[in-house]
Amino acid sequence: MDIQVRVWRQSDPSDAGRMVSYDVKDISPDASFLEMLDVLNEKLILDGDDPVAFDHDCREGICGACSMVIDGVAHGPEKATTTCQLHMRHFKNGDVIDVEPWRAAAFPVIKDLVVDRTAFDRIIQAGGYITVPTGAAPEAHSVPVPKKDADAAFEAATCIGCGACVAACPNGSAMLFTAAKVAHLGLVPQGQPERDTRVLDMLQAQDDAGFGGCTNAGECTTVCPKGIPLTLIGRLNADYRQALRRQ
Ligand code: SF4
Ligand code: FES
Repeated sequence: MDIQVRVWRQSDPSDAGRMVSYDVKDISPDASFLEMLDVLNEKLILDGDDPVAFDHDCREGICGACSMVIDGVAHGPEKATTTCQLHMRHFKNGDVIDVEPWRAAAFPVIKDLVVDRTAFDRIIQAGGYITVPTGAAPEAHSVPVPKKDADAAFEAATCIGCGACVAACPNGSAMLFTAAKVAHLGLVPQGQPERDTRVLDMLQAQDDAGFGGCTNAGECTTVCPKGIPLTLIGRLNADYRQALRRQ
């Protein structure tokens, strides 16, 4: 396949940035989107140009690093798919593909497609943990967890912290991410001691980081590669109201 990519180039946080067009030739339809960018970067390096900076790590859909907006959609056109798991066969020969970074006030661009997502780390640091005694692992059956709660907690825990929900939200809200992190601990007995402080502190950290508020637009869940449901935001709001009452 021969395609053209129009990539956001921004040398540093103070640079205004601009879209730059590149021809990328002879790409296998079985190549991943990141492998296509690897081919582009090899050519740029051989030509003595600056390669396109982009985040990636596992390339298996589990680390959440490969954040980019492809043709206006966070993680690109395939539903429930991270950029690293997106393949070029979903595009056509001759396509012109726009590639941009996450755009949100709380995720400033560092360079090209790389944004600073440490705001997510600060939300996790505020309450994304449980208190457990140190020492040997407890006997597995000592704390029974109902199957439906274990399944719901596991579903919430599949959030990979990619930030696509923030990038897609017209308010730049992190509510789907925070809702997933609050739910996966709050649904199991081990998460109950910090249940109230967790939701209060994580939402405060979210506000402090500059994320916007949720207005139920629903764009977040549409682009989420792990299918985190909007219902978890309702659960987060209920937990928040309960924590406020018990303060
Ligand atoms: S909720 Fe979905 S889109 Fe948001 S950070 Fe988690 S995995 Fe990514
Ligand atoms: S590189 Fe890890 S999820 Fe894409």
